Amino acid sequence: MIFRVFEHEEELASFAADHLIETIRSNPNGLMCLATGSTPLLTYQLFVSRLREQRVDYSNFHFIGLDEWVGIPDSNPGGCHYFLQEHVLKPLVVKNKNYHLFNGLAADLRTECLTMDEQIRKWNGIDMMVVGIGMNGHIGFNEPHSNPDQHAYLADLTETTRQVGQKYFVEKTELSKGLTLGLKHFFESRQVLMLANGSHKADIIRRTISDPISMEIPATQIRRHQNAYLLLDTEAAAQLNDDHH
Ligand code: PGA
Repeated sequence: MIFRVFEHEEELASFAADHLIETIRSNPNGLMCLATGSTPLLTYQLFVSRLREQRVDYSNFHFIGLDEWVGIPDSNPGGCHYFLQEHVLKPLVVKNKNYHLFNGLAADLRTECLTMDEQIRKWNGIDMMVVGIGMNGHIGFNEPHSNPDQHAYLADLTETTRQVGQKYFVEKTELSKGLTLGLKHFFESRQVLMLANGSHKADIIRRTISDPISMEIPATQIRRHQNAYLLLDTEAAAQLNDDHH
């Protein structure tokens, strides 16, 4: 794992956006997995505008969503589906056949996971996975003490995730389960970008880098990935010392 600290969030987002564009240039038929949340928003805005400005051909490129809250419809602005539509898929006019998102209202949630796995196989595996980091160190909905040996699955959400997740929704929302790519997908992904910004992430970032690698903090698993970047702004990196650098 390589980690880089940027002075401001804007520089982090600029670096990440260029990196995503490079992924498309090097494999125009490839597949990118996108996280949602506050962290990647600026990265996606720059990614979308530069991809268009630079006239990169992404007409055969594919996108999937990392996760989704169970019970949240596509039309709810707090959901992952809505976020990716709004910030990436609609602005880029990505064709239906080129993306696949979890349906949080699926009648059969296990089939929903198998369908995601099958889609990833069909698109020849994930070239780039963009992830954030939860306040408890989760990756997607891979929560502390979950089983890392899984592809897509139905996850039970921890109390922290249920509480923190309220920030995306206008009204108090019952959040107890999520659909998520598992850490097997994370390790199989040819490249990973993990992004974190803001002082509220400083403690979990220090632990991600210096605690033992274990499922107590799933994000520590990034240190086992062969081709991963951890991109931080100075606020998120504030508790790292010279030993870490
Ligand atoms: P955030 O969420 O980007 O809104 O902080 C990160 C996460 O829970 O993975």
